[in-house]
Amino acid sequence: MPSVTKGAPLDRIMRPVHRWVWGDVDRRLRKLLTFADVETDGGRDILRAAEVTPDPLLRRLYLEHAIDELRHGELFRERGAALVRARRTWRKVLFAGNPLPGGHGLDDLSIEGQPDYRLLAFLHVAEKAAAGRFTIYRELVDDDPETRAIFEQILRDEVFHMNYTYTQLTRVSPQGYRRHVWHARAKRLWNRYLRIAAAMAGLFGGVALTAMYFVLLPPFVWFARRAERREPTGWTSISRNGNQSPRSQY
Ligand SMILES: [Fe+2]
Ligand SMILES: [Fe+2]
Repeated sequence: MPSVTKGAPLDRIMRPVHRWVWGDVDRRLRKLLTFADVETDGGRDILRAAEVTPDPLLRRLYLEHAIDELRHGELFRERGAALVRARRTWRKVLFAGNPLPGGHGLDDLSIEGQPDYRLLAFLHVAEKAAAGRFTIYRELVDDDPETRAIFEQILRDEVFHMNYTYTQLTRVSPQGYRRHVWHARAKRLWNRYLRIAAAMAGLFGGVALTAMYFVLLPPFVWFARRAERREPTGWTSISRNGNQSPRSQY
């Protein structure tokens, strides 16, 4: 699987950004803790898939898969916690959360009402992406042998997940497995696009509101201050000839 061992083309292009993220200890440990949550959530979802599938072989494989993902979550959490203990102080860093998509993208997984072929296609695409990314991450943490060892261990599992999901997909849907994989890829791409579009919309919204605050608001402030200067101060006498009722508010 040469494409997996090198990572996806987009990830290879983004390699300098990945290097920047993993090069900082604070960003690294936050990334590990984010991975821990994604893996654990994915493990729980796959556990649910094992409960609902009518296929006995898939039930056993999903169960093994779920146990692997829950263990990955633990490994990432323990390593992140060890780095936090060693670090003692937390520094505020740029893009502390997740500037790039994480390992799996298993957070998009939904189980209820999904036929096995759709789930297997989704899992295959997600595991392949994870295997490619973890290959890159493993090289970027060369200075940290313990984190590198975790990536190596997890990478072996992800390659197994990628392969078994594909084999089982060809078994449960021998006629349409290619179509299901393409559909899963397209859906994943669409979800990525929506996330990026939402992030860009948030960014542009913030810039536009800031620009409006500094460009449109000052003239109104100037008009308000000028009007305030023209207002007489203190009580204003009312003409005796006025025909307004003294009970009127205005
Ligand atoms: Fe995993
Ligand atoms: Fe996996």
